[in-house]
Amino acid sequence: MTINKNDEFIIDIFDIGSEGEGIGRHEGFTLFVKNALVGDKVKVKVMKMKKNYGYARLMEILEPSKDRVKPKCELAGKCGGCSIQHLDYQKQLEYKQNKVKNCLVRIGGFRDEINLEPIIGMENPFYYRNKAQFPVSKDKDGNVVIGFYAGGTHSIIDTSHCYIQAEVNEPIIQKIREFLVQHNISIYNEETHEGLVRHILTRVGFTTGEIMVCLIINGNDLPKKEKLIQSLCEIPNMTSISLNVNKEKTNVILGDRVTPLWGQPYITDYIGDIKYQISPLSFYQVNPVQTRKLYETALSFADLHGDEVVWDLYCGIGTISLFLAQKAKQVYGVEIVPQAIQDAKQNALINNITNAEFFVGAAEDVLLVKYKEESIYADVIVVDPPRKGCDESLLETIISMAPKRVVYVSCDPATLARDLKYLSNNGYELKKVQVVDQFGHSVHVETVVKLEKK
Ligand SMILES: C[S@@+](CC[C@H](N)C(=O)[O-])C[C@H]1O[C@@H](n2cnc3c(N)ncnc32)[C@H](O)[C@@H]1O
Repeated sequence: MTINKNDEFIIDIFDIGSEGEGIGRHEGFTLFVKNALVGDKVKVKVMKMKKNYGYARLMEILEPSKDRVKPKCELAGKCGGCSIQHLDYQKQLEYKQNKVKNCLVRIGGFRDEINLEPIIGMENPFYYRNKAQFPVSKDKDGNVVIGFYAGGTHSIIDTSHCYIQAEVNEPIIQKIREFLVQHNISIYNEETHEGLVRHILTRVGFTTGEIMVCLIINGNDLPKKEKLIQSLCEIPNMTSISLNVNKEKTNVILGDRVTPLWGQPYITDYIGDIKYQISPLSFYQVNPVQTRKLYETALSFADLHGDEVVWDLYCGIGTISLFLAQKAKQVYGVEIVPQAIQDAKQNALINNITNAEFFVGAAEDVLLVKYKEESIYADVIVVDPPRKGCDESLLETIISMAPKRVVYVSCDPATLARDLKYLSNNGYELKKVQVVDQFGHSVHVETVVKLEKK
């Protein structure tokens, strides 16, 4: 029996994949079906076949899963942002909890020792993001389009409203769109690498209400910028307007250089009692409400009593470091982006925190040099790496330093499981695992893990 492209049949969906896609089977072949859910009976059309699995398109839902809900957003399923808005939110949480557990078992090789706390979900899984990045382009008729990429593509769905972004983005995008059209500002073309305006970045301080707008341009200046400033300043709480120069032929959104146009070069926001200054290039968690729960978990896992030395690796603008500094004797933060470290130092200053020091550089290099040359010590090491996880050489240094506890904050359960396996094979015991939902309606998941030296 073979299955060919364009074949159609009816299948039952019995599992969910790592990208939220439904998994079904036909004649022994596994089929991955985007937008299908466990419990759905669906008609599908085969798009691509490999040796014993393939990808099929959902043509019709014949019997819906009991977990299926009507998405609020009419673009859900098309836009690449919310891949599981059609799944009941409580079931999304179950899915994320299982995703972490499966990675720990399959990749990490853990079994009974996983002490998985109940997942911390969101009270309101809508309008929760404080940061948005809108690509700007022109359609085939020459109209300006601003919105979000359709899933897995670079074609833009033209929209200024999004159910998971801050609501103030809508007037911001409308004003920028009017400005671009009225003044005939050139728009970047990915294929020819010509044109000026590439992306719009917005950030909102959820506690302070402060708003940042940054236009990413393929050039050095924006014509008629005073008109844009005037228009954006009609929005209450506008705080920072800037340009970011990105002349590279790349999918990376931001370039290295920021030119302030109006207001402060940053916005401020609070997580708990700590105030943070955030500039366009700095990493800042996108869901401030859940971030507080995440950091409180990290702080409780660090189990500080006031006399500990703590290293916070991949510290960004010092968010976790300053949280920990409230309870530690001394905190050292390490981060690769120089601008973020400037923000971290400034953040320590504005909060009168004097027991936190920050270093620029790759965590794996800085920690090794400090350990070899200055014989530094740590009671607790916290890591919060990007998706690719920790460099193995960093894990080696951590093991040599032998801190009492390691707290691992992760946005990728697969690399988390890989790194935990390494630590657990080298003298650390997995004590607690806490999943926190930071990204409702997407398949992304954030996890905090406590490890102790055996
Ligand atoms: C997931 S973020 C965590 C930031 C911070 N802990 C927070 O909660 O806001 C990861 C950070 O690691 C930084 N980074 C990436 N590679 C790095 C490396 N090799 N060494 C140090 N920092 C790195 C990124 O710039 C980013 O700020």
